[in-house]
Amino acid sequence: MTSSSPFPDAFPAATDQDVSMQPGYYFEDSVQQQERERIFARCWNFVGFAEQVAEHGQFLTVEIGGTSVVVQNFQGELRALHNVCTHRFAKIQEEKCGKRALTCPYHGWTYDKEGTPFIPGNAKYFQLDDAGRKARALRSFKLEQCGRFLFVRLAEEGPSLPQYLGPYADILLHLSEIFTDQVDDQRSLWQANWKLGVESVLEVYHVGLVHPESFKNYVQARWEIDVGEGFNNGVAYLSENSAKWWDGVRQRLKLHQSQRFPNYDHFFIFPNLAIGLSHGCLMSVQTYTPLTPQTNELHYRIFMAASDLEAGRQAAVRKAVVENVTTFNRVILGEDQHIMEQVQKGNAQMSMAPVHGSNEARIRKFHQHWHHWMSLASGENAKRD
Ligand code: FES
Ligand SMILES: [Fe+2]
Repeated sequence: MTSSSPFPDAFPAATDQDVSMQPGYYFEDSVQQQERERIFARCWNFVGFAEQVAEHGQFLTVEIGGTSVVVQNFQGELRALHNVCTHRFAKIQEEKCGKRALTCPYHGWTYDKEGTPFIPGNAKYFQLDDAGRKARALRSFKLEQCGRFLFVRLAEEGPSLPQYLGPYADILLHLSEIFTDQVDDQRSLWQANWKLGVESVLEVYHVGLVHPESFKNYVQARWEIDVGEGFNNGVAYLSENSAKWWDGVRQRLKLHQSQRFPNYDHFFIFPNLAIGLSHGCLMSVQTYTPLTPQTNELHYRIFMAASDLEAGRQAAVRKAVVENVTTFNRVILGEDQHIMEQVQKGNAQMSMAPVHGSNEARIRKFHQHWHHWMSLASGENAKRD
């Protein structure tokens, strides 16, 4: 990308620019409105996995910066379309995912892959010719995939997905091959701004006090951070007990472990995708989606590495492992939710910016990205619908 591009690189190099965040950034309506236009509309947003929409008629829905989007499979072709009927604006697909035609539940307008409606009773009531029907087409959005990870961008113009992901493209391809066995899929509503959700996973300074019985025992106090150009990574070394436990699981279940990521490896992809790996055997994929300025939805999915066992073998062991890891994740994320909801309340009472130590450099990097995208005027977002 050239420096004359109106779009920032996804991962700008470190600069001395002021990256402080005022408390109001976490609850003001005007900030959320700007985030919708400048961040969520212009960035690539992770929306789900290819296997969710592998068959004709399968769909998934997401909210991206206040816009409802449906990703639907039309005879093997994936399309991302505005999930609002152009007749009288009902939501077309109401479920988070499923398998049905792109048919509005109100009066039955049914959309094709171009977003053009078939209109029941058209000849009698509307008399729309082809051009008239096309004028009622759904907005269509950019959809690209990296391995099994699907991403949508609302804005017409912007960097390609590989450009945007930088070095993470290669990592997502690797993870797509390793972590094929989904064992959990959960959502929870947090009474906290989405940025606090993100910040909750970008440092381990809090682990001793917030997770004394859970994550604290899982890792050693050793933690490394990589916030170099292109990255927002952290790695914590697993405690001896956890590494031993995972080795036992890996052997019993014959898991194809990732050799590349043997510890607790953590990646963050702006604006709201966090991925944590355990011993190369388990992957948690989390998004923090803004709802109102003071609420967000955490959506997390847990995958195990592919197994060489025949289906049904070691079923009791597998069941116990799945129970263990899903409970463990639920506890940790609940502990994070509790503390971040307290932080949200604290923000409303403060006039100074928070302060971040060198052990919180990943949060600073996140703020740097946030400022980077927010500082672009709307007019620079060329050709957006
Ligand atoms: S609102 Fe969708 S068909 Fe009428
Ligand atoms: Fe935490």
